[in-house]
Amino acid sequence: MKVKVLRQQSPVSEPYWEVFDADVPGDMSVAGLLDHLNYHDDIVDENGKPTTRIGWECSCLQGICGSCAMVINGIPALACETFVRDLKGSEITIQPLQKFPVIHDLLTDRSVIYKNLEKENIFIGEYKPGSEENGKKAQKEHVHQYEIAKCIKCGLCLEVCPNYVNGQNFFGAMFANDCYLVAARNTDKRREIKELYDEHFGSTCSKSLSCMDVCPMKIPTIASMAKLNRR
Ligand code: SF4
Ligand code: FES
Repeated sequence: MKVKVLRQQSPVSEPYWEVFDADVPGDMSVAGLLDHLNYHDDIVDENGKPTTRIGWECSCLQGICGSCAMVINGIPALACETFVRDLKGSEITIQPLQKFPVIHDLLTDRSVIYKNLEKENIFIGEYKPGSEENGKKAQKEHVHQYEIAKCIKCGLCLEVCPNYVNGQNFFGAMFANDCYLVAARNTDKRREIKELYDEHFGSTCSKSLSCMDVCPMKIPTIASMAKLNRR
């Protein structure tokens, strides 16, 4: 198959496409494919022209850390969770996330995700004992809280969102979910959370809900929105 990769040598250089030939099994992930292309010292493109190794980032290789987020055949996805057999056609295109600054090739700077959470002091884990709902309702809430806590801050929901523009005032689905989690775990913070939620999510979200389609952890953002709105 042909593997077309959008490359960029540095944050300030121009991007360009480079095409590689690869003969790999269908049960290889795109992360494995990138490793395969990078494996030899004498890397060449489809015309045999020598080139450099493709820059990309990974850590866990099992869909847990979020570092391998990129755009594969036009869809934001985790490279380690996307398999060659599931990609249609004989050509694969791989691009860096487009909503974050490129550092090198497929490696992007997503520090804005944490900076936004830090700026508004929205961190999951803030728990005030005794301030939750009690009984059966609380048990039901815990199931949803567990789902939300699976967010790996990969940024795929921001990449696909029509309202997210490069770290500006709208902070996206992950922020909405974290707002829900903080409000659910600490009732004292609800008034403050309401204002932050409105400012950075609620007043801008147009409910395309594409964030839920691409989320690798299948986080039900719409349920968080409904629960926050009810509160
Ligand atoms: S909500 Fe889903 S897509 Fe968005 S950062 Fe969390 S895990 Fe990634
Ligand atoms: S390498 Fe961790 S999610 Fe892909």
